[in-house]
Amino acid sequence: MSQLLVRGGHSLAGEVSIQGAKNGILPILAATLLTGDQVELRGCPRLRDVNASIRILEALGCSARWEGDSLLADTAGLNGCTISDILMREMRSSAIFLGAVLARCGEAEMSYPGGCELGPRPIDLHLAGLRTLGAEITESGGVLHCKAACLRGRDLILSLPSVGATENLMLAACGAEGVTTIANAAREPEIVDLQNFLNACGGAVSGAGTSAVTVEGRRPLHGCAYQVAPDRVVTATYLCAAASAGGEIYLRNARENHLATVTAALREAGCDIRADRAGIACTCRERLRSIRSVRTAPYPGFPTDAQAVLMAALLRSRGATVFEETIFENRYRHVDELIRMGADIQVAGRVAVVTGTEKLHGAPVRCTDLRGGAALCVAALAAEGETAVGEIAHIDRGYESIERDLRTLGADIVRTEMGI
Ligand code: EPZ
Repeated sequence: MSQLLVRGGHSLAGEVSIQGAKNGILPILAATLLTGDQVELRGCPRLRDVNASIRILEALGCSARWEGDSLLADTAGLNGCTISDILMREMRSSAIFLGAVLARCGEAEMSYPGGCELGPRPIDLHLAGLRTLGAEITESGGVLHCKAACLRGRDLILSLPSVGATENLMLAACGAEGVTTIANAAREPEIVDLQNFLNACGGAVSGAGTSAVTVEGRRPLHGCAYQVAPDRVVTATYLCAAASAGGEIYLRNARENHLATVTAALREAGCDIRADRAGIACTCRERLRSIRSVRTAPYPGFPTDAQAVLMAALLRSRGATVFEETIFENRYRHVDELIRMGADIQVAGRVAVVTGTEKLHGAPVRCTDLRGGAALCVAALAAEGETAVGEIAHIDRGYESIERDLRTLGADIVRTEMGI
C-alpha cells in the first residue's frame, strides 16, 4: 500500500504546469462514442479515473492508446451497450456514459452507480431528462435498462444545475431528432469544454456557460484533435499549498477566470495573486488572515471541490472562518484527519468553523476522498515534523502525481510503500 511522507516547514518556490482537467476529460471521453471515429485528446491527464473510462470504452469494443501526452481514442468498433457493475463501481461518474451510449446505440444497460464517499450520488435528474427525450428506462436488481427507438429533441428543465445531468443530456440530445434545450443547466467551465469538443466534432451546441444550453441533434459527428483545458481544482490545490506553506510559486497555463471565487478568498486571506496570459503567480509571505465565510455553490459560486484544500490552507490563520458546504451532504470527512494534525475545527451539519492555531504537527492520516486527501497534503506542508498520508489511491483519481508537482515547487514529499 502506497503512502505519501511529507516533512512540513518548507516554504514553496518554483513553477509547475497544470495538468489537464479530470472533470473536463471524463465527459469528453464519453462524447467520443458519438463520433464513431478517431479522436486525439491532447494534454489528457494520466489519472485513475481516465484509466477507468478507457476500460469502459474498451469493454464497449472501442480502443484507446497513449501517444506522448495525447490519448488517441477510436470508437468506430463500438459493439456493445452494456457497462458492467465492476466497471461502474470503479468510478461513480461512469453514469456520464449513459447518454452517449443511448444516443449511439438506441439502448444502454448499466448498473445503478452507487453513492460515494461524499454521500448519495443520485442520478434522478439524468433519468428524468432522458425519459423526456423519449428513453424507456426500467430498473431491476440494481441494473438500469434503457431503450430509445428514437430520441426526440425536447425543452428540458433541471430542478437543480447538476453538472453530470447537464453533460449527460447534452450527449443524449446529440442523438435526438430536432433541437433540445436544457434550462437551469450547470454553468461550470467543463460544460463549455464539452460544448467546444462537440462543436469541434461537427456538432451544433450553444449556450454552455449559461443556464440555457441548446443542442441541435442528429448532426453527423466526426473525430477531431482537441486540447484538454487545464484543471481548475488542481490549480486551486496548488494555490492553497502555497498559502499553507508560504512562498512564491507560478502555475503555468492556469486560468484565473475559472477560479475567481478561490483567488478572491486567498487574496482576502493575505495572498498576493497575479494572473497573466500564461498562468498565475501566488506569493504568501505573512501568516494568513481568516476570511469572513466560504459558502460552496454551483458555478460561478465557490467550488465545492476547493472547500477542503482552502480549509487546509486556513488552519494556521489568525481568527476563524465559517464554511458552509451546500452541494454534498458528507464533504467534511477530511476534518477528523486534520484535527489529528492539531487543527481546531467544529462541524455542525453542513457548517464547519475553522479557528486558526499557531502550529500544526505531523501525524499519520488517511485520505477519505479525492479532495480531502489533497487537503491533507496541503496541511502537512505547514505542519512541524512528518505526516504520513495513507489511502492515497483517492488522490491518484484526480492528480497525475501530486508529489511530483509539490516537489517541483520545493516541498519535501515522497511516495513510499507502507510496511506490511
Ligand atoms: C461533478 O459531479 C464533479 N465530478 C464533482 O467533482 C463536483 O464536485 C460536482 O460536479 C459539483 O461541481 C465530475 O465532473 C466527474 P452534480 P456531479 O450532479 O456531476 C445532486 C471531484 O472532486 N444531484 O452537479 O456528480 C447531487 O447529489 C468531483 O472532482 C441530484 O440530486 O455533481 C449533489 O448534491 C467530486 N440528482 C448535487 O446535485 C441528480 O440527478 C450536485 O451534483 C444529480 C445530482
